[in-house]
Amino acid sequence: MKLRNRLSISAVTRSISVRVVTLALTLSLVSVGSIPANALNVCDVDPKSVACITGKASSTSVVVNKIRPLIPKNYYPSNLVRIPKYNPLGRIIKKEVSAAIVKLGDRMKAQGQGILVVQSGFRSYSSQVKIHSAKVAAIGKAKGEKLAARPGHSEHQTGLAVDFAAQGVSTGTTSFAKTKAGIWLAANAYKFGFVLRYPYGKTQITGYSYEPWHFRYVGVETAAAMHNQKIATLEEYFALPAAPGYLN
Ligand code: DAL
Ligand code: ZN
Repeated sequence: MKLRNRLSISAVTRSISVRVVTLALTLSLVSVGSIPANALNVCDVDPKSVACITGKASSTSVVVNKIRPLIPKNYYPSNLVRIPKYNPLGRIIKKEVSAAIVKLGDRMKAQGQGILVVQSGFRSYSSQVKIHSAKVAAIGKAKGEKLAARPGHSEHQTGLAVDFAAQGVSTGTTSFAKTKAGIWLAANAYKFGFVLRYPYGKTQITGYSYEPWHFRYVGVETAAAMHNQKIATLEEYFALPAAPGYLN
């Protein structure tokens, strides 16, 4: 065989083995949950993998927490709409989440459990800058960061999170859990595709204090699976590392 042909065959072999090693390394890092999927294009390899669906900012299953920032940090979702009902503050959110909120509010009203109010929906990077710094200024960094995410780390920036209240009911404190609306939401939101994202007693996993008002849309299938399997957090459901604090 000519030398040139031998050289080109060995170059091809080398290039294939480099790719195999790179892919194996990529998948092993992603499987331990340390690197967000879209940083590594794992979605090109397997779009249905847990690494892809939990890492891609536009995915309904994206998991955002203190060790999993949004990528890019200033991510801005498409398909944001103004929620047509239960929305005196004119909040916007992803279209499919808006439809689910309306169905949930209609059922809550029909069952005599109060009139739903959307307190907060989508929040941009820049609005989260203000919310985070106001909370930290008001109650200090340690407590403040257990209630307000740093910009680029908030689920509200995905367009999939909503803070609920009800007419005549105060929200934003843990006493919301004891109100008629709060009790109904905790028991029924999963039927509409929502999970209570920061449950009681799970701060070491989620990184946040109990927030009985903050719900995250994940779709009916995932919400029902978590409910049926009695799994409280997205980190546990997707077998991702706990996120008690920021890496820096
Ligand atoms: N209150 C939640 C943690 C947020 O700021 O996104
Ligand atoms: Zn919230």
